[in-house]
Amino acid sequence: MNFKVDLSGQVALITGAGRGIGRAIAIALADAGALVCVNDINPDTARATAEEILASGGQAFDYVADVSLKMQIGSMIEAARDRWGRLDILINNAGVEPKASVLALDEWDWERTINVNLKGTFLCTQLAGRVMRDQGSGIIVNIASIAGHKSPLPNASAYCASKAGVVGFTRECAREFAAFGIRVNAVCPGVIITPMTQKSRDDPDIMRKWMEDIPQNRLGETAEVAAAVLFLCSGAASYVNGHALIVDGGKVMG
Ligand SMILES: NC(=O)c1ccc[n+]([C@@H]2O[C@H](COP(=O)([O-])OP(=O)(O)OC[C@H]3O[C@@H](n4cnc5c(N)ncnc54)[C@H](O)[C@@H]3O)[C@@H](O)[C@H]2O)c1
Repeated sequence: MNFKVDLSGQVALITGAGRGIGRAIAIALADAGALVCVNDINPDTARATAEEILASGGQAFDYVADVSLKMQIGSMIEAARDRWGRLDILINNAGVEPKASVLALDEWDWERTINVNLKGTFLCTQLAGRVMRDQGSGIIVNIASIAGHKSPLPNASAYCASKAGVVGFTRECAREFAAFGIRVNAVCPGVIITPMTQKSRDDPDIMRKWMEDIPQNRLGETAEVAAAVLFLCSGAASYVNGHALIVDGGKVMG
């Protein structure tokens, strides 16, 4: 992606960065000069992303934590501060998406989805937000979804509810945190080529329906979501606050 942003020396924490969109965001921020804490619940993938950044000359370390557990998030933020002394950017990206109709959805799946996607975003924002408030500056980007913004997703009620919650939470954080020099925005991707969408992409009927609905007539790449995040982290977005930026090839049209 030919889009130049300078984040030299800024410390960034990206949750769920072992694969998919989070991995692309971690790499994009590192390419822009950020010092990157690569979080994931999966130790192997977190390590792989951090090693990829190190191998290309960037700075990164991996930290395994479950974003739904406050103690683990607190330790992770402390680890980033111990290493680099501050925290400038938080990307709340970790997410899960169980598939079942409302009538069949297991209660455990509902709770897990809300805990990871919504409570995890709250916990990371609260703990990182305190650090950013004390610094007097910070940038938070929440990865929501068009499923929580405009476009319901079949068999994904918990996911839709969690992502709608993330959009609402983003707006209130933007209002509350502005006084501390912290901007908070969301990115709402459409259908992006990642492991999360693999099963649906393997279904020709689902693919045909998607293509009918996407004016650009293709699915999105992880780098295209990362570019939107990079913009929101940049000085070019200095007056963008409380926004939910849709990146979906025109699927829901604003
Ligand atoms: N792929 C899409 O089409 C799409 C569309 C809209 C929004 N999103 C959102 O983008 C984000 C990334 O999606 P993706 O497609 O890359 O998914 P993915 O499943 O490929 O990657 C998600 C990552 O989050 C990690 N993770 C899961 N639970 C975690 C936890 N409790 N703590 C820490 N890490 C955890 C996983 O291990 C995985 O590495 C998610 O929030 C997702 O809802 C994706």
